[in-house]
Amino acid sequence: MTSPQAHSTYEHEFARSVEDPEGFWREAAQDIGWVRPPQRILDDTRAPFYRWFADGELNVSWNALDRHVEAGRGSQDAIIFDSAMTGQRRRISYSELLDEVSRFADVLRRHGAARGHRVIIYMPMIPEAVVAMLACARIGAVHSVIFGGFAAPELAARIDDARPNLVITASGGIEPSGPIAYLPILRRALSLASNGKQGTVQAVIVKERAEVPGNAIGLDSVAGEGWLDWNSEIAQSQPAAPVAVSASDPLYVLYTSGTTGRPKGVVRDSGGYAVALAWSMRNVYGIDAGDVWWTASDVGWVVGHSYIVYGPLIVGATTVLYEGKPVGTPDAAAFWRVIERYRVQALFTAPTAIRAIRRTDPELELLGGIDVSSLEAVFLAGEHLDTETYHWLAEALSVPVVDHWWQTETGWPIVGNPRGLGLLEVKPGSATVPIPGFQVEVVDGRASRCEAGTAGNIVVKLPLPPGALISLWSGEERFKEAYLDAFPGYYSTGDGGMIDEDGYVFILGRTDDVINVAGHRLSTGQLEDTVLTHPSIAEAAVIGVRDSLKGERPCAFVTLKAGLETSDDAALRDQVVDLVRNTIGPVASFKDLFVVPRLPKTRSGKVLRKTLREIANGDGLTVPATLDDSDVLQALQAAVTTNTKAVSR
Ligand code: COA
Ligand code: AMP
Repeated sequence: MTSPQAHSTYEHEFARSVEDPEGFWREAAQDIGWVRPPQRILDDTRAPFYRWFADGELNVSWNALDRHVEAGRGSQDAIIFDSAMTGQRRRISYSELLDEVSRFADVLRRHGAARGHRVIIYMPMIPEAVVAMLACARIGAVHSVIFGGFAAPELAARIDDARPNLVITASGGIEPSGPIAYLPILRRALSLASNGKQGTVQAVIVKERAEVPGNAIGLDSVAGEGWLDWNSEIAQSQPAAPVAVSASDPLYVLYTSGTTGRPKGVVRDSGGYAVALAWSMRNVYGIDAGDVWWTASDVGWVVGHSYIVYGPLIVGATTVLYEGKPVGTPDAAAFWRVIERYRVQALFTAPTAIRAIRRTDPELELLGGIDVSSLEAVFLAGEHLDTETYHWLAEALSVPVVDHWWQTETGWPIVGNPRGLGLLEVKPGSATVPIPGFQVEVVDGRASRCEAGTAGNIVVKLPLPPGALISLWSGEERFKEAYLDAFPGYYSTGDGGMIDEDGYVFILGRTDDVINVAGHRLSTGQLEDTVLTHPSIAEAAVIGVRDSLKGERPCAFVTLKAGLETSDDAALRDQVVDLVRNTIGPVASFKDLFVVPRLPKTRSGKVLRKTLREIANGDGLTVPATLDDSDVLQALQAAVTTNTKAVSR
């Protein structure tokens, strides 16, 4: 139950952030160590392109490491690495991490990376991925971490866009299906990228992982290509000092799916991000120096950047780095054991992970005998938290379960229940209230504000607070077009939802062609482009259908070219599944395909995706008035009914 005190603290802080944003963030900036403290808090001279703390200078790796060592926390664990996949466990203190990061920063520098240069990091969930990120930050290089579940063409597209000087990788990751050999994927990506190894990429540095079973595809496999061994490079290094950068220098570029096939490179600044993360760790999550915090996600996602790496380290907490799954590695008690082993105080993960545990161990028999009493709260984000999962978890653990909503673009939560300010009453189904700094509104298509309880487009009034994206790597014009033009004066989130009479925000889902599969964001447009490269397919429409584990999963409806019809839909599906795995990656979880005689379209030729969704989800079908040909619905339903078993792998 909320105390009136918590409510008034939240309201006070929120009002302060709106009425005097500069005062609010000037104060928050004092929690960061600056080489040159900012005098100017908000630069609005180029609105709608804003900059926070623009004349300040700092180094983010110094804030995450040196500062804590200097303050006497050198022997505290900075990272606890636990791999359910290899059995490896390793504690890395702040002093040790500082040493490794400084040395790897020297390696980067010696191989040609400097302030402003890009470094691609394509690695599994191992401590070296964090070291590589922080080492980039130390020399002012801009990292771009690419999630390991993407295939070579996706990696190539990001290499082309980021134009990196260096690529850092590892010899292998491990998935339940077996080891993942990274080097052949990277090699193919480099040959696909227009600049290739001969272009901007001056060196590739590889962390060999002897512990990965079947680690046959190591450096030997690329002998003669001059790829460098992480360990030998570190052995020859000297610790490098942190380089002061401008607060608005980019810290990283992180690619996310948009409505087109071209991924968007979200540009994050250094100063605003550091301030926002320090503020959010304490005030949203209630975590501070010395606490043990675990974000079960991947460094390839924004959640990993903000709350596996930078957030917890900036405040001097201990961050758990977990390589494994919530179930099957080896069982559905994996999370509980990690919590017990390290006395984890707060866990952050995606609802999918909890649904996976619930599905496997609904009565929580495996929790018996495991001591999770250290746990004080669980935070869930990345996708909609269904009320059943919410209630199940809250009852199972008897700790607050906090839904919160944000995006790669914002870098930290827009809406949540700010535990550090005092938890507010929960309304299951709502992500709770706007976080200080975010002025959230719901507007209709004509930008008029919707009344309380009425659904519309969720927008955030400009300027966005510190820490949110400052641009897209492909340029400010694309940034403006993608996010700022639809509702002038506002940032358009791409999500729909409503705000009730108490100010609680309910997120109802994307209003664009983005779908969310197990907390991973995918573009249906990009999936369609890939499906259409199959020689037999004439037209394709990809939609998200409900999935009890992953929230949504992609499903393709296709028509075939005349003369290329097949009676073997399952064989066609297998070919398209492989095509998607090899072009986008296994992360797309693409398994469903329906061959239909025609796609339902409006008279102007637009595919009726809502109708396809209704049919695929088995919902009551509303026949659209704009439908060109009503017979198509019968044919579609027949195709889905007869083919469901045959084509869903
Ligand atoms: N490298 C290579 N492949 C990867 C990968 C990586 N880093 N991460 C996932 N994949 C592969 C998986 O092995 C799987 O391949 P498969 O089709 O051969 O089995 C595919 O991509 C889909 O992965 P995933 O969505 O993780 O599904 P899953 O069935 O393996 O596991 C869950 C299901 C629920 C256990 C898993 O999705 C999960 O833990 N989700 C938590 C959500 C999360 O962390 N979201 C991040 C945002 S907060
Ligand atoms: P990503 O940028 O990959 O983090 O994905 C962001 C998108 O995930 C948002 O735009 C939402 O559509 C969805 N999302 C994230 N958190 C939530 C949440 N708590 N509830 C509902 N949807 C969410």
